[in-house]
Amino acid sequence: MSFRLRTLSALRSSLPRYTTIPSCTRYSSTFGYTQAKALVYSQYGPPSDVLKLHSHSISPAYGDEVTIRFLASPINPADINQIEGVYPTRPPLTTALGTTEPSAVPGNEALVEVQSVGANVKNFKKGDRALMRHSAFGTWRTHASATEKNLTKIDDSKFSKITDIQAATVSVNPCTAYRMLKDFVKLEKGDWFIQNGANSGVGRAAIQLARIWGLKSVNIVRSRPNLDELKEDLTSLGADLIVTEEELGRELKSKVKELTGGKGIRLALNCVGGRATTDMIRQLADEAHVVTYGGMARQPVIVPASQYIFKDLHTHGFWVSRWSDQNPEGKREMLEDIFNMMLKGEFKEVPVEKNIWTPETKEKELKEAVDRSVKGFGGKKQVFVFEGTE
Ligand SMILES: NC(=O)c1ccc[n+]([C@@H]2O[C@H](COP(=O)([O-])OP(=O)(O)OC[C@H]3O[C@@H](n4cnc5c(N)ncnc54)[C@H](OP(=O)(O)O)[C@@H]3O)[C@@H](O)[C@H]2O)c1
Repeated sequence: MSFRLRTLSALRSSLPRYTTIPSCTRYSSTFGYTQAKALVYSQYGPPSDVLKLHSHSISPAYGDEVTIRFLASPINPADINQIEGVYPTRPPLTTALGTTEPSAVPGNEALVEVQSVGANVKNFKKGDRALMRHSAFGTWRTHASATEKNLTKIDDSKFSKITDIQAATVSVNPCTAYRMLKDFVKLEKGDWFIQNGANSGVGRAAIQLARIWGLKSVNIVRSRPNLDELKEDLTSLGADLIVTEEELGRELKSKVKELTGGKGIRLALNCVGGRATTDMIRQLADEAHVVTYGGMARQPVIVPASQYIFKDLHTHGFWVSRWSDQNPEGKREMLEDIFNMMLKGEFKEVPVEKNIWTPETKEKELKEAVDRSVKGFGGKKQVFVFEGTE
């Protein structure tokens, strides 16, 4: 064994895989150690109160390990709920990264690049790109140690036309919209559905999938000063009708009847809750289905008894994490289908505000990006984009 290898193996046996290091800016050391930074939380609460930036080092990939570098990671509502401690899946709080308090890294979705692989890794090589296979991995960090099981590889040819942002945001929102439009009501070409939160990531994906599949959409948004601009934007994606929450009345019902040739609407997608959702449900035809996938208003979904009794309304919930874990092959096929739409230029990425995360980025800037995602009417999804971390 050479001196360098002996030194490395001595180091490996004396150090945990992750070591806390003082903050500095070089990302790869002489012995292949990667200096990483991660947002972490050790207690649940508002992100601005509980998030901290932590520096540590990662030893060279060994055996089944893969060292990954994050390229882009969005800030989704579920990530915020996880930090608040009100989401069903929560990564365990541990000291694996060398934090003084047991901590977790937030973030569920990301595009990553493989930096190095251990000798037993079969399907990945340096430079490969991948998505996180399951939620709760912890993606708001520059680098991590993973295994092949944590990753879904993306074929290189996809990157000729697909942007890093499209790939980093495909697993949660477009996949959720895709399943909800396919799995609850058999919609034929020309059929209509209605959705609230229509300007959200999921809403925009649903509008575009509907356009591609020949479906029609009624899209509910909250009123705002730049409403015309938003309407123009959603219309350019393929929205057929855009209304505000205040316009959910009898007049709209007559209009929907006319637009649908008397057939009415049999599918509603709900991510809001409270009054706005009850008003949306009142727009539906007999035997319609409401799929609740979010609760942005943080209010319960109230369904008038008459909707169940006289209209035989069906209500469901949908959670893409559960669906994906139960249908790994279906998830692969769905991603392939969506990527093909993106390659054909049919599916636009969500409007984003890129928050560049470099070795020098301060904790305060990262927390401000998270805070911006919590405020409503932002219009843009906050995404961490990593630079200078090769
Ligand atoms: N079940 C699942 O598997 C699944 C998967 C993906 C997402 N989701 C859920 O879907 C929802 C949307 O996620 P996203 O990533 O698409 O969101 P996003 O792009 O971050 O957009 C958030 C949306 O929520 C709206 N909103 C915020 N507060 C609201 C309120 N009080 N009343 C009405 N609308 C409000 C925003 O409208 P304004 O522009 O008016 O602020 C915007 O349309 C979230 O609840 C998320 O947790 C669920």
